[in-house]
Amino acid sequence: MAIKFSSAFAKNIKDEAVQTAVRKTVVSLANACKQISHICARGPLESGMGTQTGAANTDGDAQKALDVRSDEIITAALETAPVAYYASEEQDSIVTMDKTELLAVASDPLDGSSNIDTNVSIGTIFSIFVAKDAAVSSFFRPGSDQICAGVFVYGPQTTLVVTAGAGSETYVLDPDTGVFTLAIASMKIEPSSTEYAINASNHHHWGAPVRGYIEDCLLGACGPLGAKQNMRWVGSLVADANRILSRGGMFMYPGDDRPGYKDGRLRLLYEAAPVAFVIEQAGGTATDGTRRILDIDLETLHQRIPLVFGSREPVQALADYHKKQD
Ligand code: F6P
Ligand code: MN
Repeated sequence: MAIKFSSAFAKNIKDEAVQTAVRKTVVSLANACKQISHICARGPLESGMGTQTGAANTDGDAQKALDVRSDEIITAALETAPVAYYASEEQDSIVTMDKTELLAVASDPLDGSSNIDTNVSIGTIFSIFVAKDAAVSSFFRPGSDQICAGVFVYGPQTTLVVTAGAGSETYVLDPDTGVFTLAIASMKIEPSSTEYAINASNHHHWGAPVRGYIEDCLLGACGPLGAKQNMRWVGSLVADANRILSRGGMFMYPGDDRPGYKDGRLRLLYEAAPVAFVIEQAGGTATDGTRRILDIDLETLHQRIPLVFGSREPVQALADYHKKQD
């Protein structure tokens, strides 16, 4: 078994068939992500994994060989799991696996792909719903319908932060045993923080609320926030999320006025909703600036959404800057 679950994992899911299906599916994903982690650890020794395929995914991002390989590994793993439908950031449309099965899984198979060649942490994000009768209705719903979500990170350690709706747990892939082993039973994000993450090169493209808030962050102790605000930006959502789960802080990828960036860069189904579920279950907050991410209905498969998440107080402070603007 690739993961040794805590005694509490998924026990809150009342329907026993669903509970068993979730556990089986997370085992399959853990198996898949062990393989991806191994490929990442070999880096340039694994031939061609950082190279561009020359193709672009539906969102227009350049695809690298590792993006495609990771999607293939996850697809193969889910074929042996109780999964009816699979939606992948790397595929144009939903894959029907076995309509009679219980679950629908969405995934960003390899997040942070611009960091593949640089030995910087990257990862895999997944989201699990109870499947409905049709492929589309299984995913076109609010993130609050998720029954499980998780973030794998391939970094100095390979980790999994996962929730089934009763708190977020962290597992570490023990290199000695090859098993994801419980490391932290209950993640807790502090409500306040003095650290934020944003790609500041987009400053002149942001709207007034985000620009005003970041300018106040830069004023530090001399400004209205009254304290130095440290800045960290890895450029892999999974790694920034993992840092915030570990020591608090705030992440922002707002919408901006570059062509195609009205709703930011990140995808609601594959990135924002699962990260929001894990963050909320650790005591944090996730919004699109003002609205709770988990309340937003998916309208198109690859839909983007502005994403702000982390410690409760700074996320609320940014929402207040939006309200002042209105
Ligand atoms: O998957 C999209 C992604 O690579 C995230 O992992 C990351 O947070 C973001 O894009 C980085 O975007 P940018 O290159 O615009 O800073
Ligand atoms: Mn991604």
